[in-house]
Amino acid sequence: MKATVASLAAALTLGAHTVLGAPSAALTAAKRDSITPITVQGNAFFQGDKRFYIRGVDYQPGGSSKLTDPIGNAETCKRDIQKFKDLGLNTIRVYSVDNSADHDECMNALADAGIYLVLDVNTPKYSLNRADPHPSYNDVYLQYVFATVDKFARYENTLAFFSGNEVINDGPSSKAAPYVKAVTRDIRSYLSEQKLRKVPVGYSAADIDTNRLEMAEYMNCGTDDERSDFFAFNDYSWCDPSSFTTSGWDQKVKNFTGYGLPLFLSEYGCNTNTRKFEEVSALYSTKMTGVYSGGLVYEYSEEGSKYGLVEISGDTVSNLKDYDALKAAFDKTSNPNGDGNYNKTGGSNPCPAKNSPNWDVDASDALPAIPAPAEKYLKNGAGKGIGFSGKGSQTSGTQSTSTAVAGSGSGSGSSSNSSSSTTTAGATSSGAAAGLARPFTVSMAPIAVSLLTMVSSLFGAALILL
Ligand SMILES: *[C@@H]1O[C@H](CO)[C@@H](O)[C@H](O)[C@H]1NC(C)=O
Ligand SMILES: *[C@@H]1O[C@H](CO)[C@@H](O)[C@H](O)[C@H]1NC(C)=O
Ligand SMILES: *[C@@H]1O[C@H](CO)[C@@H](O)[C@H](O)[C@H]1NC(C)=O
Repeated sequence: MKATVASLAAALTLGAHTVLGAPSAALTAAKRDSITPITVQGNAFFQGDKRFYIRGVDYQPGGSSKLTDPIGNAETCKRDIQKFKDLGLNTIRVYSVDNSADHDECMNALADAGIYLVLDVNTPKYSLNRADPHPSYNDVYLQYVFATVDKFARYENTLAFFSGNEVINDGPSSKAAPYVKAVTRDIRSYLSEQKLRKVPVGYSAADIDTNRLEMAEYMNCGTDDERSDFFAFNDYSWCDPSSFTTSGWDQKVKNFTGYGLPLFLSEYGCNTNTRKFEEVSALYSTKMTGVYSGGLVYEYSEEGSKYGLVEISGDTVSNLKDYDALKAAFDKTSNPNGDGNYNKTGGSNPCPAKNSPNWDVDASDALPAIPAPAEKYLKNGAGKGIGFSGKGSQTSGTQSTSTAVAGSGSGSGSSSNSSSSTTTAGATSSGAAAGLARPFTVSMAPIAVSLLTMVSSLFGAALILL
């Protein structure tokens, strides 16, 4: 029965998006209402009026760089939900999904268990290329990303989207940062223009000291349309036996104090010595909760590098020693009372100054504009995802040919920035209080919009399936 309702909804959604450009809020038959969507306030996450801390694991049986979709199989998903509940988790992170697959059953089972999803919207085949980012930021790539976002924004238990994962992994690769920021902007524009729920969007940074702070600042500077909703980084610096000061976590708290976005660890759990997960009691204590909102332990299943909490063999899942250690650490660690001293103001910061080779981005450089052929997805919807069988995007499609007008949300409207159809009616600027409000972005003059509407009414589905 559910399948029938879902496919009807899918058909209606496609129709509505394509021909009428109508909002699709009424067509989300698959979502569960039993779970409260997570929102951002100041530098924290909230579940309704309650502060929300991520207690999660990274979940990618098969390995994080392989093409597997761990939430596309309802049976293994439900099997593992029992473990998630036993561990006391409220969140999992998934690194790759097949955007042509059906995720209703798994996502609803997760929602019923009170578990949220943090989703990487990229896959190994559809992602930015850090060595040569410009050609990889193209319309074929964005169509894949938007199709994924479109599906998952409809689930109330999608907590956040990672617009990129470890794209920058040293000083020189910071040159790719404007592309990561452009993708983040584009995903936020997509949610806004398609009138989908404003699922928080941000980046997951590699565990590198050379430019962690600069990257965090960069993702939170400039006009509101170009800023992130949160920032996350991987951190393996607490290796038991250790402490808040020995690990250097006290210094990171100091360095990030005053940062205006929610911050969390997208991977943690150093395995140099026996893991006792003693960092858990620090992470959820008021020493850190003014600045951090929890984190995700790397990783659920053993994939050959000794980070696994469980061993999966065929249909059998066996707990490893680290499973018991993590469960014990979570069991004895509750969240702080009250709001954990979060920063209610939040807001933007100045762009970090260029400091090559560690940070090779000019603070005044404009972001690349969205590639022109991808603009139609913002207006008409992305259509279907091609999934894991797609050919990949790094060397295909049409590239960006201009820079974006800050505040326009979707770039200059076409490949020529002198077009009179370009307006910048979106966000003007930031200021602490204006901070996290999402502007509704208008990137075309009314006449262009009505022309587009007319064209899409005439040609209907043809437009979307290009
Ligand atoms: C904190 O910031 C200082 C100054 O920018 C930097 O030297 C130091 O490495 C940072 N510490 C950590 C742990 O990130
Ligand atoms: C709160 O965040 C704002 C904006 O980033 C910042 O200016 C302010 O110093 C922060 N306050 C505290 C107590 O950290
Ligand atoms: C607009 O285009 C001109 C040349 O076509 C270029 O020099 C300029 O940097 C562009 N400005 C923006 C904001 O895209």
